[in-house]
Amino acid sequence: MISFVNKLKEYLKHKVFNCISECADELGYETYVIGGYVRDRILKRKEPKDIDVVCVGSGIELAKKVAKKLHGRPQVQVFKNFGTAMVLHGDLELEFVGARKESYRKDSRKPIVENGSLEDDQNRRDFTINALALCLNKNRFGELVDPFNGIQDLENGIIRTPLNPDITYSDDPLRMMRAVRFATQLDFSIEQESLLALKRNCKRLEIISQERITDELNKIITAKQPSKGFKLLFNTELLHQFFPEFVALHGVETIQGKKHKDNFYHTLEVLENLAKNTNDLWLRWAALLHDIAKPPTKRFEEGHGWTFHGHEFLGSKMVPKIFKRLKLPLNEKMKYVQKLVLLHLRPIVLSKDIVSDSAIRRLLFDAGEDVEDLMLLCEADITSKNEVKVKRFLNNFKIVRQKLKDIEERDHIRNWQPPISGELIMQTFNMEPGKLVGDLKNAIREAILDGVITNEYEKAFEFMHTKAKELGLKEH
Ligand code: CTP
Repeated sequence: MISFVNKLKEYLKHKVFNCISECADELGYETYVIGGYVRDRILKRKEPKDIDVVCVGSGIELAKKVAKKLHGRPQVQVFKNFGTAMVLHGDLELEFVGARKESYRKDSRKPIVENGSLEDDQNRRDFTINALALCLNKNRFGELVDPFNGIQDLENGIIRTPLNPDITYSDDPLRMMRAVRFATQLDFSIEQESLLALKRNCKRLEIISQERITDELNKIITAKQPSKGFKLLFNTELLHQFFPEFVALHGVETIQGKKHKDNFYHTLEVLENLAKNTNDLWLRWAALLHDIAKPPTKRFEEGHGWTFHGHEFLGSKMVPKIFKRLKLPLNEKMKYVQKLVLLHLRPIVLSKDIVSDSAIRRLLFDAGEDVEDLMLLCEADITSKNEVKVKRFLNNFKIVRQKLKDIEERDHIRNWQPPISGELIMQTFNMEPGKLVGDLKNAIREAILDGVITNEYEKAFEFMHTKAKELGLKEH
């Protein structure tokens, strides 16, 4: 036990803790560092930059005193609504709050707040592992206050609420997403009572802003094993509250003894495969959405079986709607995801023995600088249990990669802009901007991609004239 207490003191070596300790004693406030900082230090995760400090007194007064001692000025950032104050020190964010007793109303996350004791404050926190407090006052420096045995839960890998989970979750329904997020990030299990409460309270997510829900979702997606989080979200029906398109991927149908694969679990396998090779949130989103239009395109064709024709086109069209609803950015990140969803079936076709250079050029042109990410997605999309098949597919992709490399080295199609601009077309034929300019420009691009003409200015210029003549245009 003595060695454990000494170890906890180790976590308070940074000089800011000494400073807070002195200020707290001067003000006569009982003061603790609490929450994520304590949890992550004990778990030996990377050293947290956010430090939450709770005192039995005014958090704002303590913050001011600390700022004065650290920086010579009592300037702090005060968040009046929350009764908290923040001090930035180097790369550390120190957040001060007075211990509180809170009660919640049914229709809002905004609590009615009263001053309280440390115990009151710990009671109102989300999980036992987030309620661990280390005392900072000099005479108890480094003493752990852990009324719910959070240490044991940390050791056993358990997510448990300090109070009855129905109360904790209904007080702040965002915590339901946090439960799944922590279980995924830390690879912990959610305790049984809590799990049942998640399902009972899932509809309460409706009072939470989509931005906050998506923030947690993105943390799940970027975790080491994101599929764990998605299975929990599905089983607790939290997923059903904000992502029905993904829920629709679940299930297998059988007609005439023929069944299709369960696209929910398939997608999670693809995400898991991809997660081994990239931490990129948007590439992981592309994996999540690559088959999103399989449910709406699903057909059973007599004598043939299940088909999902055009799911890549419809899927890419669904992306903006989903991004908008989930409050994901509607910018180039979204376009990137759309592009990968649209192109995800293209590389495999190119592995066939006889494939024209123009098909390869076309993919290089369409994928541009994202061609490597597309290949990673396609390789992750191989989820067959048959090892021979997996080997064959992977080998096929190796061939495609080689072909892409060869053609790129020769023709430099990636990041390529066709040699004739719209401006030049308009100048040459004295035209206003319009559809005809676009048609002409496209025709030149297609001719180059198809290998009808080589990728050179003179050839393209000549081709432009021929094509213009066909369209009845006269030179200026
Ligand atoms: N907390 C809570 N309920 C919430 C959010 C936070 O009880 N809905 C409490 C927890 O005690 C948590 C602390 O406030 O540890 C700080 O919250 P936050 O900074 O959001 O989370 P961390 O636990 O620090 O973890 P992370 O930084 O990974 O989000």
